[in-house]
Amino acid sequence: MANSGPSAARPVQKRRLRLRYVAGTLVLLVSALIAFLANNGDQAPSVQDYYSSLESRVGYWLLLGNTRHCGLYEKGQLSPFPVSKAQRAMEEKLYTRLDLKPGSKVMDAGAGSGYVAMYMARKGFNVQAIDITPHHLDDARKNVKKNGLDNKIAVDYADYHNLTMFQDASFDGIYTMETFVHADDPAKVLRNFHRLLKPSGVIVLHEADFSRNSKVLRDVLRLSHCQNTLEEGGYEQLVANAGFQDYSLEDLTDEVLPLWRLFGVVGYAPYQIFKLLGIQHKFTNVMAGVETWLNWGDGRYISVRAVKP
Ligand SMILES: C[S@@+](CC[C@H](N)C(=O)[O-])C[C@H]1O[C@@H](n2cnc3c(N)ncnc32)[C@H](O)[C@@H]1O
Repeated sequence: MANSGPSAARPVQKRRLRLRYVAGTLVLLVSALIAFLANNGDQAPSVQDYYSSLESRVGYWLLLGNTRHCGLYEKGQLSPFPVSKAQRAMEEKLYTRLDLKPGSKVMDAGAGSGYVAMYMARKGFNVQAIDITPHHLDDARKNVKKNGLDNKIAVDYADYHNLTMFQDASFDGIYTMETFVHADDPAKVLRNFHRLLKPSGVIVLHEADFSRNSKVLRDVLRLSHCQNTLEEGGYEQLVANAGFQDYSLEDLTDEVLPLWRLFGVVGYAPYQIFKLLGIQHKFTNVMAGVETWLNWGDGRYISVRAVKP
């Protein structure tokens, strides 16, 4: 006959107790991790605040190896892997859009950790890289040195709203890779670029474009300091007002989808949990990845090119 007395119940109780400890410890660990990774929930963070949050640092490092831009894929491709190959393809696209001779002097405005600048330097350009986020500048300097490109790339702190330290007509080309979207005063930035370019100098801007003034993405845009939301058709007008001509725009939205889909899929479950807990605004990158993917069509990815007459 089975023993159903108190001594048989004890191991079951013990197991339950152990399970509760394990579950409790797990919940504590996950909560601690969430609290550790969360940004401070600032409603209007500066660019530096946004990029300095641990969530941003860990996210960009984990998913993009600190190259903070989209990859370019074949239309209809499903797999986002290998991400680095697609990122090089995006850099190549920017390089061909610049259409400048080797030896040209270009500015990388918002160079991040310097990967695009290094691609351009290897193609034969002399690059002036600028940025305003201190740990990106440190990273860029280290990367440039490690790759022996210090004679081709200068890395300096500069805000593209204020470029008075650079001479008029001293550049053949200026580009932004997912940077101009952060501009507080896009018209001023373009006027600065215009002043720095030689006649026939070019700008190429590879940017997410929220010119449709998406209401659903408004929170995401504010939290990631993406102020540059223009009216539809706004880019062309803005570029023309700054004195550029020969405007051309390529819509690359379909060609960046595999990576955005990856962000959406990876972030979906955590995002739903954060939303339930009401702390989604403390995880801007997760929120941006998922919301942008869910509302695909509210923005696009564009390559803009224009020439200084
Ligand atoms: C999405 S990251 C792109 C970095 C780099 N272009 C890349 O593709 O890896 C945007 C970068 O723009 C920089 N940035 C934002 N506003 C800027 C400004 N006003 N002047 C210069 N850099 C700026 C940020 O610090 C950040 O490094």
